[in-house]
Amino acid sequence: MVSRKKLLMGNWKMNHTISDTISFSKAINDFNLVDVASKKGIILAIAPTYLSLDTLKKNAKGLIVSSQDCHYASHGAFTSSISVDMLKEIGVTWSIIGHSEKRQYEGETDLDCNRKIKTLLDNDFTAVYCVGETSKEYDDNLTKDVILSQVRTGLQNIDSSKAKNVVIAYEPVWSIGTGKNASKEIAQDICSYIRSIIKDMFNKDVADNMLILYGGSVKPENIHDYLACSDVDGALVGGASLKADSFKALVDNI
Ligand code: 13P
Repeated sequence: MVSRKKLLMGNWKMNHTISDTISFSKAINDFNLVDVASKKGIILAIAPTYLSLDTLKKNAKGLIVSSQDCHYASHGAFTSSISVDMLKEIGVTWSIIGHSEKRQYEGETDLDCNRKIKTLLDNDFTAVYCVGETSKEYDDNLTKDVILSQVRTGLQNIDSSKAKNVVIAYEPVWSIGTGKNASKEIAQDICSYIRSIIKDMFNKDVADNMLILYGGSVKPENIHDYLACSDVDGALVGGASLKADSFKALVDNI
């Protein structure tokens, strides 16, 4: 069996000002958290708002800083968007794509995600592609159909050599911010299913090495259960990543 590193990634969504970001950075530097995590084989990443990207990059030592989204074009008339070139200039080379809140509130489609992911990979970025079913789809037993089409379309026409820079986050929409986290059995089942889709689309090597995360109401109290699953390589965490103490507790409990 291939041994993969673990990835703990915080998604701050629309939270934290620049001064909050500075305080958080100081606290995790004081904890030496990136080194502590690294000794446990855990990579740490956080996706703050665009405004805080540069601040987090400059202040939080060794932390991977990720955008929460980016445009597929390098520049142009796309009000409110930012491009990979802009991210690169401040040393940011990771981006989340396809978060359910972008899909739900802004109508982002799998094809939109595919265009963005291709741009990211062409620029040697790491793309953290979020997939997950809604509550109704879950109730209707459609989880695997939804995941299959999200993964297949989102990652279509991508070369295997580039797919190694993709991370997939399985985030069931019904579990996000609700406290109704998916059971570890569901997380394992769907993450293993995603790995099998990746093997079909690319090859065994890409599938064996891809990091697949679970997200949705992950807390210090339950993170260990998920990370103990053989196909769950980490977590994408919203609320519990906002406070440095709680982010540290997530690391401690892995
Ligand atoms: P919560 O951890 O707050 O449920 O959010 C999960 C999420 O959406 C991370 O991207």
